[in-house]
Amino acid sequence: MSEAPSAEISREIARRRTFAIISHPDAGKTTLTERILRAGGAIQMAGNVRAKGERRRTKSDWMGIERDRGISVVTSVMTFEYGDCVFNLLDTPGHEDFSEDTYRTLTAVDCAVMVIDAAKGIEDRTRKLFEICRLRDIPIVTFINKMDREAQDCFALLDEIASTLALDTSPATWPIGRAAKFIGTYDLRTKEVHTKEPIGEDDPRIIQMREEVELAEAALPEFDRESFDAGHLSPVFFGSAMKEIGVTDLLDALVAYGPAPRAQQTETREVKASEDQVTALVFKIQANMDPNHRDRMAFARVCSGRLTRGMRLKHVRTGKQFALHTPQFFFARDRQLAEEAFGGDVVGIPNHGTLRIGDTLSESEDLRFTGVPHFAPEILRRVRLDDAMKAKKLRQALVELAEEGVVQLFRPQDGLSPIVGVVGTLQLDVLQSRLQGEYGVAIGFESTPYSLARWITGDRAKIEAFQDLNRSAMADDLDGDPVFLATSSFMMRRTIEMNPDLEFHDIKQIGMASV
Ligand code: G4P
Repeated sequence: MSEAPSAEISREIARRRTFAIISHPDAGKTTLTERILRAGGAIQMAGNVRAKGERRRTKSDWMGIERDRGISVVTSVMTFEYGDCVFNLLDTPGHEDFSEDTYRTLTAVDCAVMVIDAAKGIEDRTRKLFEICRLRDIPIVTFINKMDREAQDCFALLDEIASTLALDTSPATWPIGRAAKFIGTYDLRTKEVHTKEPIGEDDPRIIQMREEVELAEAALPEFDRESFDAGHLSPVFFGSAMKEIGVTDLLDALVAYGPAPRAQQTETREVKASEDQVTALVFKIQANMDPNHRDRMAFARVCSGRLTRGMRLKHVRTGKQFALHTPQFFFARDRQLAEEAFGGDVVGIPNHGTLRIGDTLSESEDLRFTGVPHFAPEILRRVRLDDAMKAKKLRQALVELAEEGVVQLFRPQDGLSPIVGVVGTLQLDVLQSRLQGEYGVAIGFESTPYSLARWITGDRAKIEAFQDLNRSAMADDLDGDPVFLATSSFMMRRTIEMNPDLEFHDIKQIGMASV
């Protein structure tokens, strides 16, 4: 049904780069992000001069709680241009409690930069994030950071990546000098030496580099575009984010190899970025980003076509038309109206709660993108309201925050007070703090007898019958889909065995529950 892709769309998507940076805390993600944004002209900062207390206040931090705790709990998006490419950098939350949010962000990128601390190698959180990328075969570019410090042997690091992650590595650059004497990089592809100061061919650092590169070229695979695109081989860059060495190597490589926006899967077919008709996928909702404007921002990845301001798109879940009056791009702390956007771009769409995570916007065809799932929570708590007068406000606030994905909300079918579900306890702190800060509602949490939740699908009459028998363990989720709550895994297993006609899911996919 789509016409031949227009030349403009093809040209524009070919220069889009949408990526995220993944790393273990302290490996240098924040520093690298700042350097990248600076190289792209998105922020101007006065060198390294940052007050100590300010260190964690990166340009992408929005909320008080983040600053207080020195962690990044929300996902932000930053758009900048570099080397004739338009980059969309999606910031993944650093704390592991936010794996669901992270997962959703990673569904919206075409590539991930994996930052590794040269002294520590692969760490726990790097591995977990990598595994999420692997689920979708996202191409990975590796940046081995902190080469200006004592580091592990480069071959050992490459070996470790290959063996612990089962990922082939192909060095794209090689470090010149180590620790305090680290001065730059050698590009294996262009054979160029990149150093800030001149260095002679007879410098021992160059001699060592040449020897090692010879070994590396003999022993390690060459860069192979197809393997990279398939997520099997990672080009590796060495550098120091702090000293700004190797950062442009990395950006230049992203310009050169891409990847450009990939096709996205819907329930019915794959949508290519080069298609003419606009489609977009909402992967994140964020409320109250700016305390002065109580707006609600849906972050949507444009998947195809040319999106323009003022355009009307179909909101496929409700079938209603949705007018894009003020789509926005984000540049560090600033926003700007987006006049047009193409596949791979991420636009913020202010709205009053119409848009939800996983929603598809489409110019014509009824498509529903898949791959933005909800995960069964691992912690369930009943919300205790301190001031009964605020019950209505709390209900409303919980719905809004659940739509934003802060927590999952379950309304018990027996009419008792709502239960919130989270993957990690930090989410409970965020909920409590935001209810207080943004809605003026003070709450506490009470334990529930439940430890597991599963979505149920199957024949409607059989679900009804099951619900009648298990009313006190049944709840409805935000979409009104039925969820069974179990007190233990034993109980859950038994229930599943005894109800072979029903299916119990620990992941809810778009469109699944309405079976
Ligand atoms: P993160 O976002 O991954 O958690 O890491 P972040 O960038 O905050 O960096 C963690 C620490 O590592 C910081 O030091 C930062 O300055 C340092 N760092 C980052 N990149 C490099 C690098 O290339 N070389 C060296 N030597 N250090 C690097 P800190 O001591 O925690 O803070 P500060 O005293 O520097 O403010």
